[in-house]
Amino acid sequence: MPDERTFVLVTDRPDRSAAISAALRGIGICDVVGPEETWRDRRALAGVVSDLTLSRPEADHCLRALQRRFADRHLPLICLLRKATQDTLRHAKTLGATACMPAYLPPETVVAALANQVGIIAGRAEQAVSQGVVRAGEALNGLMAEARAGQPVRIGAVEAGLGPILTAVQEGGLARWLDTVWTHDDATYQHCLLVAGLAAQFALHLGFRHEDQFRFVRAALIHDVGKARIPLEILNKPGRLDPGELAVMRTHAAIGHEVLRAGGERDPVTLSAVRHHHEMLDGSGYPDGLAGGQIGDMVRLLTICDIYAALTERRPYKSPMPMADAMAILAAMEGKLEARLVQSFGEAMAAAS
Ligand SMILES: [Fe+2]
Ligand SMILES: [Fe+2]
Repeated sequence: MPDERTFVLVTDRPDRSAAISAALRGIGICDVVGPEETWRDRRALAGVVSDLTLSRPEADHCLRALQRRFADRHLPLICLLRKATQDTLRHAKTLGATACMPAYLPPETVVAALANQVGIIAGRAEQAVSQGVVRAGEALNGLMAEARAGQPVRIGAVEAGLGPILTAVQEGGLARWLDTVWTHDDATYQHCLLVAGLAAQFALHLGFRHEDQFRFVRAALIHDVGKARIPLEILNKPGRLDPGELAVMRTHAAIGHEVLRAGGERDPVTLSAVRHHHEMLDGSGYPDGLAGGQIGDMVRLLTICDIYAALTERRPYKSPMPMADAMAILAAMEGKLEARLVQSFGEAMAAAS
């Protein structure tokens, strides 16, 4: 059996390295190094991803050393660029880049491009998942960008992401979806894609009609669109939010509802899911303090997916909460969540694992 392929991620952005290296490990071994790497002791390398700021002298020096070390063969080198101007593209090419990609792309897109250059053909399941993540990410990206800029959102663009999510979860499995999604380095995107995958699994498990599967996954994908208008220092604050910040954060549900309504969304179930996914059956939720029968079925299902996603969220610095623990927390929320639905959600998760 041939040795496993070795890839190197050379980076001066340690905050992103965990996500990219996790994605690279899907296709081989991955070493993460800084711009001080000399390449002298490296022998068989399958490919390199550079996440360096190329304008820095040490980055230039590092990639030139790489080029000299492997001058005798064509080494795939993907350069992630912060600014894709003609000059930086040309500079990257002179440093041996075989492909240049914007640094903000999801890691799995970068890795798929590298795998392609190395000649690795991904399996059908992997393809379904990576395509699903990319298509759903793009769909969400457009919507969030418009919402952030205060422009009217074009909701129709989201449709293109829904089929790929359902196909990915059906053909690739929920576990693979979660593994791929968590490498996304933007927490809000990661969360929305997670919730959408959980919703797809839940809808498939409950045997929803085709159109309801789409409707539910759609609501899940866009449920937090209002976060596009929350200041980043609150949205991405690492610690606990203070009461004032929490109040701002909580406006995302009503803002999302308004953004979609202004964008022409007419489906009352979707609008309700976006506005009310933080309501609780006992009336303790927000923004409207709805209770019991005032909260529709699809909203109740979405709330369960949303809380489960938040509980099991993965971060590079912590291990994720096991499924059983997250289910125990959901079960303990009796009175707030519908116990019967929590149980069937647990069955849907168990069926996927
Ligand atoms: Fe939310
Ligand atoms: Fe959420």
